[in-house]
Amino acid sequence: MTALQYLREIDGIGRDPVRGGHSRHLLDDADRALRDWFTTTAKNLGLDVEQDRNANLWAWWHPADGPVYPAVVTGSHLDSVPGGGALDGPLGVVSALDAVARLKADGHVLERSLAVVVFAEEEGARFGIACLGSRLLTGVTPPETALALTDSAGHRLRDVLAENGVDPAGIGPDQDRLARIGLILELHVEQGRQLAPRDEPIGLATTILAHGRWKLTITGRGDHAGSTELDSRRDPVVAAADTIKAVRRAAVEAPAAAKARATVGRINVTPGGTNAIASRVELWLDARAEKDHDVRDLVAAVTGAAERAATDEGCAVTVHEESFSTRVAFDAALTERLDGVLGGVPRIPTGAGHDAGVLAEFVPSAMLFVRNPEGVSHAPAETASPEDIERGVVALTACLAELA
Ligand code: GLV
Ligand code: MN
Ligand code: MN
Repeated sequence: MTALQYLREIDGIGRDPVRGGHSRHLLDDADRALRDWFTTTAKNLGLDVEQDRNANLWAWWHPADGPVYPAVVTGSHLDSVPGGGALDGPLGVVSALDAVARLKADGHVLERSLAVVVFAEEEGARFGIACLGSRLLTGVTPPETALALTDSAGHRLRDVLAENGVDPAGIGPDQDRLARIGLILELHVEQGRQLAPRDEPIGLATTILAHGRWKLTITGRGDHAGSTELDSRRDPVVAAADTIKAVRRAAVEAPAAAKARATVGRINVTPGGTNAIASRVELWLDARAEKDHDVRDLVAAVTGAAERAATDEGCAVTVHEESFSTRVAFDAALTERLDGVLGGVPRIPTGAGHDAGVLAEFVPSAMLFVRNPEGVSHAPAETASPEDIERGVVALTACLAELA
């Protein structure tokens, strides 16, 4: 089957009738169905599939005489943002499976082991930390931080892992596995629109913006919407509104070279009654910029504005860093080598985080991007044409043939 056929096969899994698009979150029904699908599909291609200590899936193809490490690793993730597109993550996985099938059909003789990987909780949509599987594997996130996580329904990560065959006591840095990874090449749908204006279907990644997530909790006093005088209110929603305006302002007012972007995409209002003044608002800041210190400056500006907004309204605010990822520069030599295989393609930076970015600190790492005609991602309108998906598989196959 081709990558496009695989995408059609899994399209019905995790469709979200309320938000539109797909909602596939770590080890929920949809994610489990996708992981089962991956396991069966990879086994049918003759690969050995295993789940590692951090809930990542690995499908191995070894040379005829047995494993040769360090291996070439490709793949991506199958989980999504809430109401996300069909390609962010799955395109890299199905393209990897298709590429392996083509290499096998071509009689490619492997010189080193090759693995297709599915990283767990890349979007952090369920437990809040993006790239959790690769961050645990590499030790970037300590196991105790992960084990303290709960989802929005109050389920603990430790319980969810245990129910799905992952021993919570065993999660964390996996040096043996890391030592088996020679390099990683992740194919991904383009996020943003840099290839279409150049009339180019495929690009290679250069850098990832520094980025992170912060949870702001604004506490006020719950009360009656009809009987509470305006001048005695302590309404955290009002403070949150001022804070959100300040988030945009902080990004707009940052130096242009910082390429700053700051977003609030998620808000919880407690108790959430139309006729009740809220007692608490939680909102999440996603801040990104060219340099680590640019992100820190953004967060400092937002924190100051949130504190002023809270004080003005008689509320209190706390700011908690959930994750921070330093700027990533992909491996120049590997990228140059792949560019040689591909005959010269655009090199493009990205503002999106990736597991290959987490791994880049530990092993040579590169990314291939497949043109996204409108540039939309993290939304149902995310697309790539069938022709470009095919071009992506051809490019990935050629790269893997060269590397392995
Ligand atoms: C992942 O896609 C991210 O950049 O948030
Ligand atoms: Mn994403
Ligand atoms: Mn992704």
